[in-house]
Amino acid sequence: MCSMKKRVAVITGAASGIGKAISLLLAHNGYYVFLFDKDQKQLLRVINEEFAADSSDYYCGDVTIKEDVEKALVQCVQKTGHIDALISNVGILEKTDFLKMTEQQWDKTIDVNLKGVFLWGQAVAKWMVENNVSGGIVNIACMRASLVGKSMSAYAAAKAGVRMLTKAMAVELAPYKITVNAVEPGRTQTDLLKSHIIDKSGEELRQRLIPLGRFAMPAEIAQAVLFLLSDQARYITGASIPVDGGYSIEKD
Ligand SMILES: NC(=O)c1ccc[n+]([C@@H]2O[C@H](COP(=O)([O-])OP(=O)(O)OC[C@H]3O[C@@H](n4cnc5c(N)ncnc54)[C@H](O)[C@@H]3O)[C@@H](O)[C@H]2O)c1
Repeated sequence: MCSMKKRVAVITGAASGIGKAISLLLAHNGYYVFLFDKDQKQLLRVINEEFAADSSDYYCGDVTIKEDVEKALVQCVQKTGHIDALISNVGILEKTDFLKMTEQQWDKTIDVNLKGVFLWGQAVAKWMVENNVSGGIVNIACMRASLVGKSMSAYAAAKAGVRMLTKAMAVELAPYKITVNAVEPGRTQTDLLKSHIIDKSGEELRQRLIPLGRFAMPAEIAQAVLFLLSDQARYITGASIPVDGGYSIEKD
């Protein structure tokens, strides 16, 4: 086991979209990045093409499987010696009408979006407490934590859960000087968004409803994460920061 001089960050859902952008920005800012994702092909492609071998590692696993989380954490610590930051970013949106939703659909959405944040958050927090590390945790929630959309009941409930879990973790981990915050993105240009855009005119209308007039770029969400993990943010904990171009504040 080596003791890495760089700060070490674990990023879940790191093979694409916002998770990949967070991983790239942290790497550019001197972090050793540990990428976790269940999509092995995409994860390998990204790690080989976009990250330096001496400042990154990866594990292919599922955030809903405790064994995957524990094995990944052990691999990360064996390789780097420590963990300073966790970014729980995995999320899925499978739109289903409330009246038609099956128990399986409900469970899947809640497990991936909320249980995954619990499993990774608890594993990393335990390691930090046992090893006297005052690190930072950032959970990626969504503007849907407070603004519901059609056919999003399970997703919105899960993201509201992430917002409140963030506050609960912040309170319980504050005695160990571990900060826990959430970022709540609005619509962001990723594969997840693309899969929900049905027609171009609808897309234009949605952009007009955002005060800043456009969807976010993944790198813009990553900037908020970088700040929350920085020394300048050591007094911020339990916060949920909207990065949504003002969408959640305008009620015209
Ligand atoms: N894109 C948006 O418009 C938007 C808006 C608000 C919030 N968010 C949130 O941001 C986060 C990232 O979203 P994105 O748009 O980058 O999504 P994305 O679909 O582009 O990427 C998600 C990544 O998570 C991985 N993943 C999915 N399920 C997994 C699991 N069970 N275990 C491990 N990895 C898994 C996927 O393989 C993928 O690489 C999510 O939490 C999402 O809810 C996105």
